[in-house]
Amino acid sequence: MAISVRPLTPVVGAEVEGIDLSQPLDAETAAAVVAAFDRHITLVFRGQDITEAQQLAFAAHFGPLGIRRRPPKEYGAAGETTRGHTMLVTNIRDAAETRAGSYGDGEMWFHHDSCYYEVPNRATFLYAMELPSRGGNTCVNNMYAACENIPDALRAKLEGRRVLQVHDYKRRERIDLDAIDLGKVLHRWQPIFVRHPATGKRALYVNRLMSAAIEGMERAESEDVLAQLFDIVEDPAIVYSHEWRLGDLLMWDNICSCHARTDFPAEERRLLRRCTIEGVPIEAARAA
Ligand code: SIN
Repeated sequence: MAISVRPLTPVVGAEVEGIDLSQPLDAETAAAVVAAFDRHITLVFRGQDITEAQQLAFAAHFGPLGIRRRPPKEYGAAGETTRGHTMLVTNIRDAAETRAGSYGDGEMWFHHDSCYYEVPNRATFLYAMELPSRGGNTCVNNMYAACENIPDALRAKLEGRRVLQVHDYKRRERIDLDAIDLGKVLHRWQPIFVRHPATGKRALYVNRLMSAAIEGMERAESEDVLAQLFDIVEDPAIVYSHEWRLGDLLMWDNICSCHARTDFPAEERRLLRRCTIEGVPIEAARAA
């Protein structure tokens, strides 16, 4: 199958054409898509009509499928922590007002999926099934570029340090370390600069939603430095904003990018099917 890969911005994102994800991929096509992914960080496939099984079969070309991990409060009596490979990203509620999936409505700040685990997911795959009339864009950035864009003096100050990644189930609120009991939320100290397992390149691993503190800094300095880093991370020059159409599949790399969602009308339905692939433990990247 001959595919074409068309960059969507100068530094992040490409659209892959000439591929039908409902069909098995031959080895050559799969290798070409994997190579495009490592190069462009986020890939878009328009006009797809795929089942859950077909989405999973496609994702499996990139690594072992990720298992969905439940938040601790949802652990079952038997201690099980998973419920399969897919989840729905949606604001839809049933007649009893029970949510049919996760992440609700409204804006979501930039974040790395599962950065608060020892082994975060390597990549995420989102497939559009119902969309609002406007908004709800998914924005993906280039964290290699963010790393390079840090002023030298600040980068030197951050060498070898770690950042506290915290998940408290908020979508657009800074972590308040004075108000939160870390014993009750998922959290982990991770390197600020990470080595990408496939490309070997160095990426910044900090995001507005989940990065709560920098190791070895007083709170005020840490907040000040994080604010500077968030501006660099969210610089529109290194972000691709995906305007969804039905049948789009968007995938992003979760180590060398972080992503956000723009607001959309809460009264309109939005439904996407999400799966992931497993990663490897995060590796710190030292200065060259
Ligand atoms: C996510 O952060 O995985 C959800 C993105 C979206 O709803 O567009």
